[in-house]
Amino acid sequence: MTVATTTAAPTIDLLDAASFANGQPHDQFAWLREHDPVHRHGEPDGPGFWALTRYDDVRHVARDPATFSNSPSVQIADVHGDGAALGDHQMMLMMDPPRHSRYRKLVSPDFVPRSVRPLTHRVQALARQIVDAVIERGECDLVDDLAGEMPSLVIADLLGMPLADGRELYKLTELIHAAPDTVPDGTQLNAAIKMFTYASDLQAAKRRNPGEDLSSRLLAAEVEGHRLDEMDFNLFFMLLIDAGGDTTRQLVGGGMHALFEHPDQRAVLTADLDGRLDTAIEEMLRWVSPVVYMRRTATVDTELRGRKISAGDKVVLYYGSANRDELVFTNPQTFDVTRSPNDHIAFGSGGPHFCLGSHLARVEIAALLREILTRMPDLEPAGPTEWLTSNFISGPRHLPVRFTPG
Ligand code: HEM
Repeated sequence: MTVATTTAAPTIDLLDAASFANGQPHDQFAWLREHDPVHRHGEPDGPGFWALTRYDDVRHVARDPATFSNSPSVQIADVHGDGAALGDHQMMLMMDPPRHSRYRKLVSPDFVPRSVRPLTHRVQALARQIVDAVIERGECDLVDDLAGEMPSLVIADLLGMPLADGRELYKLTELIHAAPDTVPDGTQLNAAIKMFTYASDLQAAKRRNPGEDLSSRLLAAEVEGHRLDEMDFNLFFMLLIDAGGDTTRQLVGGGMHALFEHPDQRAVLTADLDGRLDTAIEEMLRWVSPVVYMRRTATVDTELRGRKISAGDKVVLYYGSANRDELVFTNPQTFDVTRSPNDHIAFGSGGPHFCLGSHLARVEIAALLREILTRMPDLEPAGPTEWLTSNFISGPRHLPVRFTPG
């Protein structure tokens, strides 16, 4: 196996969303993996952070929650820093074991393969409806009209909400995550308030009239001898709406973009869709890596590859880079829908926070890709791709496409 020898110096600013304006900065990541895998990166409004770009390092840190904590935030900026508004409450993603384990146990039964497999038919029916809604038009935005619809409808279904509400809530999460200078003042606070109000109303309705849905199961469950209170439920609700939305959307958008860019691979896939869809999805996950990074915070003084990490230092795991590590993947810069084995870490690398929704995401992605590739065989780009402006989630934000109406 050879290590890439790009000569480009790491001049890139990994905090600047513009660095991700055409997808992830793979040349710069390759340089860092080879020359400076535990890279000290500056931060204009903060103390700076360690950028980890190698697969083994990302894996090592993700699997050692005692040394590398998820608190106070998994984003580089301390957005949840003082925690004042939340009091003792926190989202599961920002907790560490053993508290994290107790909360995760409440939701995990709904997301294991045994629970997700029976949803396949329902999810396929939703995928059919999504394509039905645009198929007569002959053109649409692949990201908004196809890819973004799937996760918002599925999570609404799981939580026992009207499907149209899933779509509205999803728009609110987009506003909450928008770069502050791209939306009018107060927009984000209003969106967060609307989301919380919706969650509070939903729990009141489900407490009065429980159903066969995840919301009702969460409200009936106990953690540390107590039922979830209103804030606990609202935080779970927001995490579930949020974590599966942009990620799944960006994967389908980015995966289709990769097929457009690699027509030979599209031909390989469509020649045997049943036989190759699973490996193609894993390759899309590796290639797109919708979650750019997750952050940890060192709890004690420690060392990584000889660099001294101090207690309190931010340590950032770059999944998109790890998924192109030359020491792990053969020809990592090649998009190969038949790649096997493919031990990508797009869902995390096996630590306690490994993606709760990975099985559900795979079912959603397979259903939608199957529907798109069989019913829109001549689907092609109809304009330039616009990429998401974010340093945290990566992929196309708009991808205009055309196809023969059917
Ligand atoms: C956590 C990726 C879809 C729910 C994560 C993490 C990643 C990830 C990288 C963090 C792993 C870590 O820190 O070790 C993705 C990708 C998806 C996807 C790439 C789609 C392509 C979903 C879906 C759901 C979901 C559909 C559920 C509806 C969650 C939750 C967590 C999480 C709740 C936090 C788990 C915890 O803290 O224990 N995901 N995800 N994800 N994901 Fe996903």
